[in-house]
Amino acid sequence: MCGIVGYVGTRPAARILVEGLARLEYRGYDSAGLAVAYRKALRTTKAVGRVDDLRAALGDEPSPGRVGIAHTRWATHGEPSERNAHPHTDASGRIAVVHNGIVENAEELRAKLIADGVVFASDTDTEVLPHLIAKAAGDDSRTLEEAVREALRVVEGTYGLVVLDARRPDELVVARNGSPIVLGLGDGEMFVASDVAALVRHTRQVVFLADGELATITATGYEGSRLGPPTTVDVDDDDYDLDGHPDFLSKEIHEQPAALRRVLAGRLDTRFATARLDGLRLDPRELRGIRRVTFLGCGSALYAGQMGAMFMEELARVPADAEQASEFRYRNPLVDPDTLYVAVSQSGETIDTLAAVEELQRKGGRVVGCVNVIGSAIARQCGAGMFLHAGPEVSVASTKAFSSMTTSFALLALLLGRVRDLSSAHGTRLVDGLRRLPDAVEHALAGEAEVAAVARRYAEARSMFYLGRVRGSAVAREGAQKLKEISYVHAEAYAAAELKHGPLALVDATMPCVVVVPDDELIAKNVSTIEQIKARGGPVIAVTNADLPDGLADAVLRVPRLEPELDPILLGIPLQMLAYHCAAALGRDIDKPRNLAKSVTVE
Ligand code: G6P
Repeated sequence: MCGIVGYVGTRPAARILVEGLARLEYRGYDSAGLAVAYRKALRTTKAVGRVDDLRAALGDEPSPGRVGIAHTRWATHGEPSERNAHPHTDASGRIAVVHNGIVENAEELRAKLIADGVVFASDTDTEVLPHLIAKAAGDDSRTLEEAVREALRVVEGTYGLVVLDARRPDELVVARNGSPIVLGLGDGEMFVASDVAALVRHTRQVVFLADGELATITATGYEGSRLGPPTTVDVDDDDYDLDGHPDFLSKEIHEQPAALRRVLAGRLDTRFATARLDGLRLDPRELRGIRRVTFLGCGSALYAGQMGAMFMEELARVPADAEQASEFRYRNPLVDPDTLYVAVSQSGETIDTLAAVEELQRKGGRVVGCVNVIGSAIARQCGAGMFLHAGPEVSVASTKAFSSMTTSFALLALLLGRVRDLSSAHGTRLVDGLRRLPDAVEHALAGEAEVAAVARRYAEARSMFYLGRVRGSAVAREGAQKLKEISYVHAEAYAAAELKHGPLALVDATMPCVVVVPDDELIAKNVSTIEQIKARGGPVIAVTNADLPDGLADAVLRVPRLEPELDPILLGIPLQMLAYHCAAALGRDIDKPRNLAKSVTVE
């Protein structure tokens, strides 16, 4: 949450900073601001709302200064307003700070600073930082890096921060504790950002700051005690183009066949009818020794884990479950050495998932990651796992990362199954099904016009139920999540059989029910659920790969048949499009739903 950018070099900084911020808007979009140093003074510009508002506030002649910092905010302390927008400065306006994270002892530090006569200009936790740094910088006998180090000694909490001192326009100081910071190495210029997305227009040579690191960067280099050599990131600037789509969500939904081809590339072993997941770093004996698999994640990553747990039990016959990372970390969890823990995260940054990993490792648990962003905190902390290779996911709502996660879990289940009792014939059928999966997704996406028509019919609903049994359960949960987050229509997912135990009381003509109906042995049960809803006048949208009796449901969203065990991955596709088109019909800001941010780096 919150995106930060910094620049020091030979070009005017303001425009570079704003362009960088625009790439980080998925991290928050409550307000934006920047500070540029020019002739030993800072010029600060802020705007409530989007980066476009900041661009407008900058006007045609931004400061020509060649060093600066910028921020896009997801509000934690203090309402979204200009006074709470970053950068924050000390009283003399000399030190400016952009910060991602939370200063947990801000109240105590603020009280002490106020007692010393400091006057605060905002309600944020961040503002203590420039005051503390200015105090530590004192008469300039210390370097800026020393002053920042000194100030941070009393700070508790998480931070990724960039500090600019008007008196030292040749350098920036960066520090990291919990929130990501990456340096981008240009030719005679240096960039800093929360994510490589903001850098790849300028350079693919980057250095990820490790937790606890602090560094000084200048136009020609970086200095820090433990900074490693640069690495080349495998992301192109073009990956952030809309490519003719109206928004990133549409682009990412349609990228799924290609993303899944990447997930599967090199991981299907036809000869032994199994999967290859070398990144797990587990040999067959270790794989056999796994007695349980527990997935940990938040939001869509959690629902992906629930689908993963189902694959694991069905294909590998290994007990499996999925846990909310936030609950797990605080529950004093019982950590079992024979369990394989899988930390699931698109961004690799979600603070609750990261903390759950740390708690597990502290107790000797074996944890691997399933992460999209290479170099991210969770990927680094786990040290082993499966990268998704889904490419950058920009829209706040997860689609291609979700289906890449579930496909990876099908691979993991296949692998664990084949070191146990899953037969070679069964393995071959699954390998073949997985190979056909990307084309089948393409086929499902071709039904978009019909899904859009259904969405237009039901988008005005006050609320919807999403129902599924076993293979349809996680699909229903993720479907409901998609609808809530981007269309703001309330949705609740239920195990279909539970409907009778209370929620059916809510069903009437105004409550559409989306029923996930895989063509499996439970189809008769799902048909009867639909009939029970119809008997109460509830409209039914069926999502299925079966041939349902004519007229049973009010609308039918079809996907092709693949292999029964893999069908849940496909059944989720129309639900993404349903949420998308409901949101479009309601005129929502599809890529940036209100109140949300894509990576949640604060608790
Ligand atoms: C946020 C996003 C969700 C996402 C969740 C977990 O809540 O809005 O779309 O599923 O975080 O994110 P992660 O990066 O850990 O997968």
